[in-house]
Amino acid sequence: MALLQLNTWTEMPVAFSRPVFSADYFDYHDGDHVVFSGPTQISGKTQLAMDLMGPIVSPTLPAYVAVSKPRDKVTSYYAKLYGWKIVREWPPQKELREFFGHKYSGYVVWPRFGDLDADAPNAQRVLGAMLRDLYAKGAKKKPKHGIVVMDDTRDKEKVVGLKGEMVQYLTMSGAMGLGEWVFVQKGSQQGDTALSAYSNAAHGFFFKDPSGRGREYIADVAGIDPNYAEWVMTQLKPRQALYVGRRGPVICIVDSDSPVGEIKERES
Ligand SMILES: Nc1ncnc2c1ncn2[C@@H]1O[C@H](COP(=O)(O)OP(=O)(O)OP(=O)(O)O)[C@@H](O)[C@H]1O
Ligand SMILES: [Mg+2]
Repeated sequence: MALLQLNTWTEMPVAFSRPVFSADYFDYHDGDHVVFSGPTQISGKTQLAMDLMGPIVSPTLPAYVAVSKPRDKVTSYYAKLYGWKIVREWPPQKELREFFGHKYSGYVVWPRFGDLDADAPNAQRVLGAMLRDLYAKGAKKKPKHGIVVMDDTRDKEKVVGLKGEMVQYLTMSGAMGLGEWVFVQKGSQQGDTALSAYSNAAHGFFFKDPSGRGREYIADVAGIDPNYAEWVMTQLKPRQALYVGRRGPVICIVDSDSPVGEIKERES
């Protein structure tokens, strides 16, 4: 593998085109947890996760994207692009084509929004049911594998109330073939799920953090030389991410060239 090994501290890591990294270098194993960290919107965390999932997901390793905000143009766009099923409730109702053998490579689990009092408990009910169901299936003799995408993780922890479930996934479900993907907007103030994700994730993608404190924190949790990590992160270009793979361990830069480009509101 041509990724830079960890003992070279004097130059920037190799930068890979995003489609090349996703298809040829992202060594994702069923059950791996992944963490994405970077400031809201300017990073493009959701879009990078979607680009990475393209070559990985299949009916035997489907994505379960749990949404906890009323709109997300990036999620809507990719759901259409990948032909994923959008569901409001869990378990989802089967459509006719599924009775005839069609199997989805992904589900977007998107509870209804629009009622200030009911939205959070409803999201907790629907997304909680999904997490419990997949977990139970993962514990069976012939476990069902999958990728649980807990986008906007902080909202799910603090507003929706899924902290216990998300932390338990990080500590236990990897062995069941259920990987949890976690999204962090600000290095330091992100709660227990983020903390647990940093120590349990096999893969980390770190966008440029504008604050020195944030960079210091990331450098620390990324598990590589903090001075080198800080130096690399200050030089990242917009929407580039520093990749740290614990399995190697390896690091490289994943470039900003998403095949989809910028998604505008009306395209979603
Ligand atoms: N590599 C990229 N090239 C061009 N545009 C991008 C890229 N990545 C993201 N964008 C655009 O930037 C906007 C925000 O992207 P995205 O929703 O992925 O950000 P985010 O980091 O997940 O934000 P949030 O923390 O608010 O969820 C979208 O319009 C998206 O299409
Ligand atoms: Mg996002």
